[in-house]
Amino acid sequence: MQHVYIDQLKDKIGSEVTLKGWLYNSRSSGKLVFLQLRDGTGIVQCVVFKGSDEDVFERAKSLGQESSIIVTGTVKEDSRSPIGVELDVTGLEVLQNVHDYPITPKEHGTEFLMDNRHLWIRSKKQHAVLKVRHTIIKAVRDYFDGQGFTLADTPIFTPAACEGTTTLFEVDYFGDEKAYLTQSGQLYNEATAMSLGKTYAFGPTFRAEKSKTRRHLTEFWMVEPEVAYANYEDMMDLGEGLILFIVERVLNDRRLELETLERDISKLEAITSPFPRLHYDDAVKMLQEGYDMERRHPAGEGEDSGKVPVFQQRFEWGGDFGSPDETYLSNQFGKPVWVHHFPAAIKGFYFEVDKDRPECALGIDLLAPEGYGEIIGGGERASSLEYLEQQLKHHGLPQETFEWYLDLRRYGSVPHAGFGMGIERTVAWMCGIEHVRETIPFPRMLYRLRP
Ligand code: 4AD
Ligand code: MG
Repeated sequence: MQHVYIDQLKDKIGSEVTLKGWLYNSRSSGKLVFLQLRDGTGIVQCVVFKGSDEDVFERAKSLGQESSIIVTGTVKEDSRSPIGVELDVTGLEVLQNVHDYPITPKEHGTEFLMDNRHLWIRSKKQHAVLKVRHTIIKAVRDYFDGQGFTLADTPIFTPAACEGTTTLFEVDYFGDEKAYLTQSGQLYNEATAMSLGKTYAFGPTFRAEKSKTRRHLTEFWMVEPEVAYANYEDMMDLGEGLILFIVERVLNDRRLELETLERDISKLEAITSPFPRLHYDDAVKMLQEGYDMERRHPAGEGEDSGKVPVFQQRFEWGGDFGSPDETYLSNQFGKPVWVHHFPAAIKGFYFEVDKDRPECALGIDLLAPEGYGEIIGGGERASSLEYLEQQLKHHGLPQETFEWYLDLRRYGSVPHAGFGMGIERTVAWMCGIEHVRETIPFPRMLYRLRP
């Protein structure tokens, strides 16, 4: 018998086929057993009639959730099915009949589900999220590959900090030397961009974030483009194109999954060019004007609950945005919003500054709508050797470790820029799910290293 996958069934109406998978759910009514079979590509209802084969019927009735089974049957058109077909079962082979699967259709607490993450990923919604994640990653690669970028991945073990020393994971590197898990491939991207012109790295990055919020993981995936002879405005164009490309791909290819996730699709359809571009000065003004109005909301919502932001004090120029600030700003637009020209004092050592206002770094952040926060961070890199030497001192970073990086300013220094987009926050936004812990197969967080 021909083994096919559930997502191919609509082209097989009338044929007899074999499906291999697991029992997602079942119910029986006297003469019929309905088996919901999943095989990784979808779920299909398989109907077993009592009259057909007594043996098959009894076996079907005895199956527990997540039993591994091979089902043969005839594909029938069915308008009530989300995939348009069901299967009339003629044969059933049971590889393992399971009777104590821990995750039942009843409600479970998050901690329990996280402890059983290795099983939880089989559930309909989790499966849908992983499918969307895959599509986003593929879209990211297609976008950059289609624009002449060359993938050049950067090391995971690094001898130095890129994004501040407080979130470094230290690892023992054969005794004498300290190594850290990379926080960002950026510094290496700057080197590969001087070879390849347009480059990107795409891999896991690590932050020893002590923050327990719905937006933070300690291990997350980041795509980081870097372009020679580009400025921060070029990066806003590039990042905007990337987001539009991803949204379109997800809307085209993952409708069924978005429906499974009960995503409000109109919110994604509203994502169109151009995205507003806010100077940090103006963002501060908006926050300050917003305060008096917003302050009236009773305090007490969790700092990062994603609900209406509650401000305890006035935002002052020079401050870094907290999640309620980001949520407030993006709520004003209903689409992603760029903020640029951040105070240099709150930004990394490597930023170029505005010539006319050296207190402003040419940094850019993209804030996603619906409270999903910053999904892109980047900007223009300082190209002057003297300035960077000063900056390293100012940030207390050891110049010896950065000599190779300074070489990029000694030999053919050019203006260049890049950014990093966090995959998990992007997936959370596309899927409309609260917490990034559900956007990666096995999340790593402050209190979560298992399974
Ligand atoms: O803004 P970040 O820290 O920027 C950089 O690392 C730059 N060096 C990137 C570059 O210019 N090449 O991080 C970039 C993005 C954030 O906007 C966010 O989407 C994600 O990475 N991110 C996290 N995602 C999940 N958990 C965390 N702890 C994250 N920290 C950053
Ligand atoms: Mg950032």
